[in-house]
This record gives sequence, structure tokens and C-alpha cells, in this order.
Amino acid sequence: MVAKQIAIDGPAGAGKSTVAKALAARLGYLYIDTGAMYRCIAWLALQQGIDLSDEAALTALAETARVDLVNGAGGYRVYCNDQDVSEEIRRPQVGAAASPVSAVDGVRRALVRQQQALAARGCVVMDGRDIGTKVLPHAQCKIFLTAPLSVRAARRASELRDKGLDVDISQIEAEIAERDRRDSTRANSPLIQAADAIYVDTGDMTVEQVIDHLLQLAKQGE
Ligand code: DC
Repeated sequence: MVAKQIAIDGPAGAGKSTVAKALAARLGYLYIDTGAMYRCIAWLALQQGIDLSDEAALTALAETARVDLVNGAGGYRVYCNDQDVSEEIRRPQVGAAASPVSAVDGVRRALVRQQQALAARGCVVMDGRDIGTKVLPHAQCKIFLTAPLSVRAARRASELRDKGLDVDISQIEAEIAERDRRDSTRANSPLIQAADAIYVDTGDMTVEQVIDHLLQLAKQGE
């Protein structure tokens, strides 16, 4: 039996979305990128000039924004209030803003509710920071995916270079370290490994090796 809910948590740049998407495709499951949801709220806040310390305004945004995750012929696309923001939300400024936005209680409450409603639709692979601990605590397969900071920074740099952006690897490493620190030390749903999650260090593994390994774990997950 294959686990019906697969929760993948871990720090930035561990390769979660790449392998979660591939795993969902292999299993015919829905893929839910919860980081994209936090990034959408951060993107909206930047667009509307909302102060990132204004918790009430950020909560109102999260409660009213419509985020759609669409896995169609054009690949995995993210829509925010009907606008395709798939590329925009990957910009480093949006990633940096998503960290304080995701620390706001009201934002988390609104998005976790939506994530649980999406998961109720069927079999899912969901990735984020609090999936195994908070969003899907009863998931049959929980993975904590990580890699050394230097490896994660190099991967993020190469993704950005592929998109034609100028990158400074030491700056990226510093930004990821700061994001890890914030995500792991916040009061509400910090990034921690669930007690029943399996620790996977992808530092020395290829993407294909990670996908195959997770597929095996998902098959043992019932
Ligand atoms: O995985 P990512 O880089 O797209 O996530 C963007 C931000 O959102 C990151 O700072 C962590 C946060 N996040 C979170 O707090 N909880 C989640 N379930 C997913 C992401």
C-alpha cells in the first residue's frame, strides 16, 4: 500500500518542491506547494505596500486572497487573485518577505485551513515547513528533507542563474541561513522535524536518487 498523504518538510533549498512534484506525478497525486501560498501573500503585501509588521493587514490579505495551484499542460502554475504569479513569487525579494509573513499567526491559520481543505480532496504530496507537525499530522509518510547549507545555497544559485539572474553565492548562503534561523525559531509552527518523520540528507544524492528513495518510503508508509 502507498501512503495516501505524503508530507515533506525541510529548510529552503533542500529540493523539496522538485522531488515532491516528481513524486506526485509518479503516483498520480495532487501536489501542494504550501511555500507558494505564503509567497503569494508576501507578493500581494509588497504590491499593495503593506508594512510587513502589520499583522492585522497581512491576516486580512491571507483570509481574502484567492490562491490557485494548477497542475496543467503548462506545468505547475500559481495564480493569486486570478493573476499568474508563478515567476514573480520566486524572486528573492518575495522569498525574503515570505519569511516574516509566514510568522504571522493569522496568516498561518488562514493558509493551514486552506491546505487542509485541499488535502481533503484526495491523495496528496504536500511540502512546506509544518506539514508533518501541523497541517497533516496523520500523514502516513513524513519526510524531513535537508542538505548542508553550502549545497542548498549552490542549488538555489544555479536555479537563479538558469533564470538569467545575477547571483552572489555568499549572499545567497547568508540569506538562506537567515531564513532558516527565522523559520526555525519563530513561536508559531517553527520548522522542526516531526517525531515520526524520516530524515533524508540529499547532499550527496542526485534528484533521481532522492525521488526513488522517497517512492520506496511512501510505499512502506501504510
Ligand atoms: O519553501 P519556500 O521557500 O517557497 O517558502 C517560502 C517561505 O514560507 C519560507 O520562509 C518558509 C515559509 N513557509 C512556512 O512557514 N510554512 C510552510 N508550510 C511553507 C513555507
